[in-house]
Amino acid sequence: MVELVDVTKDYGQADQPVGVHVLKGISLKIEPGQSVVIVGPSGCGKSTLLNIIGALDHPTSGRVLFDGRDLAGLNDRELARIRNREIGFVFQLHHLLPQCTVLENVLIPTLAGVDNSSPKAAHERAEQLLERVGLADRMVHRPGELSGGQRQRVAVARALINRPKLLLADEPTGSLDEEASNDVAELLVGLNRDEGVTLIVVTHSQKLAQRIGHVMELRGGTLNDGAQA
Ligand SMILES: Nc1ncnc2c1ncn2[C@@H]1O[C@H](COP(=O)(O)OP(=O)(O)OP(=O)(O)O)[C@@H](O)[C@H]1O
Ligand SMILES: [Mg+2]
Repeated sequence: MVELVDVTKDYGQADQPVGVHVLKGISLKIEPGQSVVIVGPSGCGKSTLLNIIGALDHPTSGRVLFDGRDLAGLNDRELARIRNREIGFVFQLHHLLPQCTVLENVLIPTLAGVDNSSPKAAHERAEQLLERVGLADRMVHRPGELSGGQRQRVAVARALINRPKLLLADEPTGSLDEEASNDVAELLVGLNRDEGVTLIVVTHSQKLAQRIGHVMELRGGTLNDGAQA
């Protein structure tokens, strides 16, 4: 599904003597239906790596293949389509719109209109997803009326509304207590198991990592497979 070939990422301008070499040659292959967790110390480049996988950022060198297509060869419109239709994103700061209800927040990615499905079908899908994440009774509430864990679950439902094949989650439980973290982890594992969504999750929590999937550690700019803390 996703393949990275010797991907590097440097930050900094060419006229600056010292750049930041964040990723130093990452090669990685993720098969459909896999569940992969990336752990590593703060600042090691986890978000950078996830953004590159999700076509939100370009590598400095190396190649990123999505379903065999080299992202470097796609135009902005094709990239936007992949980001909107094929990949779901869950960020630590979930960016729910406070003035919209839970249900409306989940429907936001469908407004881009790339899809031909009817608003009614999208509405039904949103309701199903909110049931799936345990928020059937909170659909008309606003984010401000929810707990942190509930908001995070809304963000997961929103990420899934366009039926992405790949779900990228950056610290999806970063702001949650243990019980809420367990709920979100359970949800992600269930989605992978029941709906076959391919998962790539970044987390600080080793405990969570073990539960979600195959753990890899990013450290010193390289990725080590099967790392144990
Ligand atoms: N736009 C940028 N310009 C320059 N340096 C950047 C930029 N974005 C990130 N960095 C640097 O790249 C490194 C990796 O950042 P990144 O956000 O990927 O880390 P992370 O592993 O996600 O950290 P955390 O666990 O704290 O979220 C950091 O040293 C950061 O300061
Ligand atoms: Mg980060």
